[in-house]
Formats: sequence, structure tokens, C-alpha cells
Amino acid sequence: MHIGRTLPPAATPIGIREIISGVCGIFRGQRELDRFESELKEHFGVKHCFLVSSGKAAFTLILLALKELSPDRDEVLIPAFTCYSVPSSVVRAGLRIRLCDLSPDSLDFDFAQLSAVLSEAPPPQTEAHPAGGASDSPVETRDPADSSGNSITRVLAVVPTHLFGYPADVARLRKLNRDPGVTIVEDAAQAMGETREERKVGTLGDVSFFSLGRGKAFSVVEGGVVLTDRDDFAEGLNRFVSRLPRYGLLPLLNVIFKAAALMVLLHPRLFWVPRSMPFLKLGETLFEPHFPILKMSSFQAGLAREWPGRLEKLRDVRKKKVNRWITILEASRTHGSNFLRSRSLGLLRFPLRVGDKKKRESLLRESARMGLGIMPVYPTSINAIPELRGKIKGGAFPGAESCARELVTLPTHGYLTEDDVTELSRLIARVLG
Ligand SMILES: Cc1ncc(COP(=O)(O)O)c(C=O)c1O
Repeated sequence: MHIGRTLPPAATPIGIREIISGVCGIFRGQRELDRFESELKEHFGVKHCFLVSSGKAAFTLILLALKELSPDRDEVLIPAFTCYSVPSSVVRAGLRIRLCDLSPDSLDFDFAQLSAVLSEAPPPQTEAHPAGGASDSPVETRDPADSSGNSITRVLAVVPTHLFGYPADVARLRKLNRDPGVTIVEDAAQAMGETREERKVGTLGDVSFFSLGRGKAFSVVEGGVVLTDRDDFAEGLNRFVSRLPRYGLLPLLNVIFKAAALMVLLHPRLFWVPRSMPFLKLGETLFEPHFPILKMSSFQAGLAREWPGRLEKLRDVRKKKVNRWITILEASRTHGSNFLRSRSLGLLRFPLRVGDKKKRESLLRESARMGLGIMPVYPTSINAIPELRGKIKGGAFPGAESCARELVTLPTHGYLTEDDVTELSRLIARVLG
């Protein structure tokens, strides 16, 4: 355990001003939520926006609404290396996970494999849809494994993912996807504020979602945003969202407490305290389909006051650090090819590939000992999550497996000082050199 200055791997600070705005938001109630919603619609130039309790809640609701529109389709095509929340949402929505490998060089889909999956002939339609059946609960679902015998297996949605903030090539995916029944759901959980070819991430697909969780581009402790221009889809989604429960008193107090804790403990001077409490499971990615799906609270909407300016400032800081890492790593002969060079992005964390297992372990161990914030990403590809074994159609995912094996990330947030950068660079050169 490292006691003393410890860098968080990713950080989106929340200050006292934001907490005061959040508390004022509680008193303004629905008006605060309406304000946040209409600001988001205006900023992204979209017709519909929904505010919920997390990114995974947002994704689950999108899938439930899509399932209702296309009951003859039940597969969701996701990258084989992504946050475990993504397959958790697919399972929660009662749908099947279909995987596509990703290219470690772009962190985007392996387009050859994607093309093969999207051009597969659909199997003959079955009469009954196993996921059908009315339910009182907006989010009550079945386990897709229950219906493995009488499956219908056609792609309902494909989920390009802007990992760390690298915008995925959604235009290329659009060209590949000839089937109008396949909806493009942008997973922009990690990429609020980024653009690709001058178009805002979150407006590239048919529908998108952002996460406003801890350490995301912009944070309200926890939260999810859905954006879409599609009226038919928004109508269904609105039905699901309007039936969602609100935060009760205890969950709301919990969010307020977490906001206060983040304000104090995210600082490198104190981050070692939560870091040394394993029960907090900081930085762990969990496959857990049983998460709350709630409407966003007005406290969270209040925390988001003046979000466009704040997001831009946070991005500017991250962009500078990203550029710093690119310059440092480009100058290094030993690992100069193992990262993506994109100088215009405010990445949440800077990914670096370390192919040598021993060196990678040593880098992570030394960083933990010195409190320098280098972290692994997701521990396995999605097909290797123990709870999903045998439930995912076959295929080979070597790109995803190598990402899980090789990637580490360097911090890019505003707490990273020039001294930290020097210390981190020395460590990287010593271990990898
Ligand atoms: C790529 C990706 N998708 C979805 C999510 C889910 O977001 P949330 O944590 O707000 O539920 C995350 C969260 O880390 C993510 O990184």
C-alpha cells in the first residue's frame, strides 16, 4: 500500500461550487432537469434527450426501446474489448451479446470481421419472440440463456465505442451496414466533448449515450444521457423513462455523500486513502446486470450547471497532457510505436501497449508502489468474462485479447503536474527501456 501522494488514474474534480449548485437543484426540482435537458439538446443539436442514473441504465433503456420496435431481432453487436457495463446492459435488457473483435491499432472495430457479421444472412423468422410478453416493470427482463433453444438471432443494434475518447469511425460503419433494421447505438460513455470530422461524438449514430460517472469527461458523480433524433424511437424510450422510479432519499443522500467525498479525496494528497480500501473496488470493472435504473435526480442536474464551459476546460487540460505523452513517447526508441497519436483529443486516460508481460507487470507494480496512477484497462476480453462463458456465439477475438493483455493507461487529468510527468517518464524509460 502506498501512503502519500497518489495520482488517480482518471479524475474529474467536483468542487464546492458545484455541490452548492446541486443542492440548489434539489429545490428547483424538475425545472433543473428541464434546463439540463434543453441545454444538452441545444448543444448537440438533437431533438430528444433523456436523463437517467448511469450510462449502463441509459444503454439498457435504449435496448429495451429498440427491442420493442423490432421484436424479431435479439442480438447486440458490441466490441469484444469494452467496459463490462456494456455486456451487463445487454443481459439486463434480455438480449444476446454478439461480439466483434477490435483492432489494437485503432481501438475501433475490426472492420473485416464486422463486415462478415453484418452481411450474414438472417435465419428464418420464428413465430414467437422469446423476449415478448407484457411486464409491469419497465426494466424486468429475461436471461437470454433461457431461450437458447428457440432462438431468433438477428442483429438489433451495433455499438461503436469511443474508447478513452478516441472517436470510432461511425461513418465507415454506416457504409458497411446495409440493413436499415440494424440501429447504430454510439457508446459515447467516455467521449463527451470529442468530435470526428467536425461532427460531435454523440450525434454520429442513430442514438447515443454518455456516462456522467466518476472520471468521465464530465461528471455528476453518476448519470447517463441518451440523445437521438429519431421520433419513433424517442416515443418508445419516453414510455420507458417516464415509468422509471426517482432516486429515493437514501440513494440521493448517497450521491450527495459521494460528491462531497470526491471533492476531498480525489486530490493526490488524499487519494491514497480510498485507494487503500479494497472494498470500494476503485478502478474495478464488474459484470453486474443487477444495477438500479432510475431517473436522474435534480441534484445531479444541478451539479451540471455551466457544463459546456467546464467540459471544455477539462478537455483542454487533458488535451495538453495527451500531447505531452505523445511527445515523450515519440522520442523514446523502445516503445515509440505502441500508442495512438491524435493530438486533438482530451482522452480520459492515455493508452500505451506493453507487449512484454514481465515488463508490464513491473510497470504496474512500480507505479502502484510510487502512486503514479498507471493502470491496466479491462482484465479480459468480453468472451472471457466467467459469467458469460458458453453464452456468446463463437469467434476469435485476438485484438481484444491483446488489448486486455497489453494495455496500460497513463493519467491525463489536471492533477498531473510536470514533476509527475517527469517521474512517470523516468519510470517508463527504466522499466521498458
Ligand atoms: C465504454 C463504456 N460504456 C458504458 C459505460 C457505463 O457507464 P456508467 O458507468 O455510467 O454506467 C462505461 C463506464 O465506464 C464505459 O466506459
